Amino acid sequence: MARTGWFETVAEAQRRARRRLPPSVYSALLAGSERGISYDDNTAALGELGFAPHVADLSASRDQGTRVMGQHISLPVLISPTGVQAVHPDGEVAVARAAAARGTAMGLSSFASKPVEDVVAANPQTFFQTYWSGDRDAMVRRLDRARAAGVVGLILTLDWSFSHGRDGGSPAIPDRVDIKTMARFAPEVVRRPRWLLDFARSGTLPDLTLPNMAEPERPAPTFFGAYGEWMQTPPPSWKDVAWLREEWGGPFLLKGIGRIDDALAARDAGVTAISVSNHGGNNLDGTRPLQSGCCPRSQPRSATTSRYCSTAGSGAAATWSRRSPWAPGRC
Ligand SMILES: Cc1cc2nc3c(=O)[nH]c(=O)nc-3n(C[C@H](O)[C@H](O)[C@H](O)COP(=O)(O)O)c2cc1C
Repeated sequence: MARTGWFETVAEAQRRARRRLPPSVYSALLAGSERGISYDDNTAALGELGFAPHVADLSASRDQGTRVMGQHISLPVLISPTGVQAVHPDGEVAVARAAAARGTAMGLSSFASKPVEDVVAANPQTFFQTYWSGDRDAMVRRLDRARAAGVVGLILTLDWSFSHGRDGGSPAIPDRVDIKTMARFAPEVVRRPRWLLDFARSGTLPDLTLPNMAEPERPAPTFFGAYGEWMQTPPPSWKDVAWLREEWGGPFLLKGIGRIDDALAARDAGVTAISVSNHGGNNLDGTRPLQSGCCPRSQPRSATTSRYCSTAGSGAAATWSRRSPWAPGRC
């Protein structure tokens, strides 16, 4: 293959990332959990998607543009929120920039390594993602900050279950990059000089703190500091979801839906859209939203509930339409 910056496939992106990143960093991004059933299912399900293009009577102008939660985007794919992108000095800001360059929206994790203000500056079409973590006042403060930064919608992710299975290849993540951590990772980092050079040029070290989880006037918590608070927060009821939706008042996506009855409950709680997802298979292994019939694989467009039915890894989401074929008992 010619050595250009251009590439077309996920496989090529993965090949390049594997060569560039220290092995622990690469596997932190890619790992499934436990036996990797959900991870493999997701990949296979995407591979099963196909197109049946017409060959005549076509429009001369090619346009994949569409609207998702009030935003016009140039293609029906957006960036799913992914935490701690401190694997590169520019982190989420670089991803937001890349998405903006292609005319699509950015999903920013509350567990991101870059402040929401910087990410919105790089891509005004940014959706802020939050978990159900901390008390209501803390959640409202987080939302207020994201709103003030100019995000265009909120994503509430509810499918994480604090599973700690590491057999799928997930490495132990350090709490901070201090001397001890640097010594531990030095043998693999020295074999990836270009990665090291990126950080040397930026004059920074990977920052594992979470600026968007900081309380006003307080330093950003570490990943495990924020994770601890989240773990201790009792999971929300549908009433809590409805409360947050009301509190937010704007476009609101519920992420991590894997069952039709939950999709319906989400709709009743007033959400704008859902994302059918199992967190990329790195959470509870064996979760299969597609196989559960949550996202029918082939339906005439007029019969689908959603204009976008998210399939694993696509980052797309379902938005409600009037004619819903999803009825209790279908799954
Ligand atoms: C390394 C990693 C970190 C992730 N961090 C988050 C996160 O902070 N918030 C979130 O909602 N989802 C997170 N996800 C899940 C992704 O947003 C997304 O759901 C997953 O890549 C699969 O795509 P899909 O939802 O389109 O199936 C993460 C996934 C990976 C692999």
